[in-house]
Amino acid sequence: MEIRMRYMVHLISLLVALTTAVMADASWGYNADNGPATWPGVCQTGFRQSPIDFNLGSVEISHYNKLHFVHYHNAGSVNVTNNGHSVTVSGFETWGPNQPYIYSGGLAHKYKLVQFHAHWSQDYLTGSEHTVGGLHYPAEVHFVHIRDGYTVATAANLSDGIAVVGVFLNLGTPNVGISMLKAALSDVVSVGPVTKVDGFRPKTLLPQNTESFYRYEGSLTTPGCNEAVIWTVLTDPVTVTEDQLNLFRNLKDHHDNMLATNYRPTQPLNGRQITFRPSNFDRIELCGSAPTLRGSISAFIATIASIWLPNM
Ligand SMILES: *[C@@H]1O[C@H](CO)[C@@H](O)[C@H](O)[C@H]1NC(C)=O
Ligand SMILES: *[C@@H]1O[C@H](CO)[C@@H](O)[C@H](O)[C@H]1NC(C)=O
Repeated sequence: MEIRMRYMVHLISLLVALTTAVMADASWGYNADNGPATWPGVCQTGFRQSPIDFNLGSVEISHYNKLHFVHYHNAGSVNVTNNGHSVTVSGFETWGPNQPYIYSGGLAHKYKLVQFHAHWSQDYLTGSEHTVGGLHYPAEVHFVHIRDGYTVATAANLSDGIAVVGVFLNLGTPNVGISMLKAALSDVVSVGPVTKVDGFRPKTLLPQNTESFYRYEGSLTTPGCNEAVIWTVLTDPVTVTEDQLNLFRNLKDHHDNMLATNYRPTQPLNGRQITFRPSNFDRIELCGSAPTLRGSISAFIATIASIWLPNM
């Protein structure tokens, strides 16, 4: 009797703990009552918040080296789960010496991949978090890297503790990486289950050309909005099909409602510098002339054209 009583007490406190944990996580979202305008703390008071809009007037050409993606071509096991805010693909720490990482490209440190997740909406006019000339892509994937030698928790306290690489998704031919995740994405429609996928290669979600990117200092785009992120947003999108986008669009939130949109609106620049590394930078320099404004204008036109003229 007494044992059973004690067991009940344990069970109840466990349930309370679990409920608190889930509620804490479920306390923010993307609806009117819990959306970005209601997120607390630095999300409202910060000065280097993300995402932002990349527009010609605020961009400066950079002299960065190439950003190197190491071990991104490797295949390994990942865990796919729906945390009620997005679908997260994690487990890269378990790859040991094969854990993907990035370096150079203007980064002062080496940053190791810990997870990636996606942002989307139900239409093609919105979805990505960053925008180019005010225009959204239909979705955006964020590869989250932690500064070498730090944990996720300690890195989130440093002004350059986290390096996120953003990749835009655009409508076109199927993406091999999303195809590999298809069954898992169908398994995690509701919050909770974790599905393992073997043989996943993160490189499948990078565009062929990773040389051209935007760079700025910002934050996490979800609460606590820590101002700890060096952002790299690749200019070239990867293509996905409408069916592949629908795998994200069908996911549900903590209340088993549709997670219809999960992008935060763009935030004020507050005087921050955005730099742009064009992919033809090396070639231009080889020819002995500095990269020109004309180069960046044509890059912008190409980007905007790619948003509006997807290979359908
Ligand atoms: C996936 O999750 C399981 C259970 O939490 C864990 O044991 C396993 O190591 C994880 N695998 C990866 C690749 O992270
Ligand atoms: C992060 O910084 C806060 C405030 O300075 C501090 O209270 C907290 O312990 C730090 N967390 C870690 C993991 O270092």
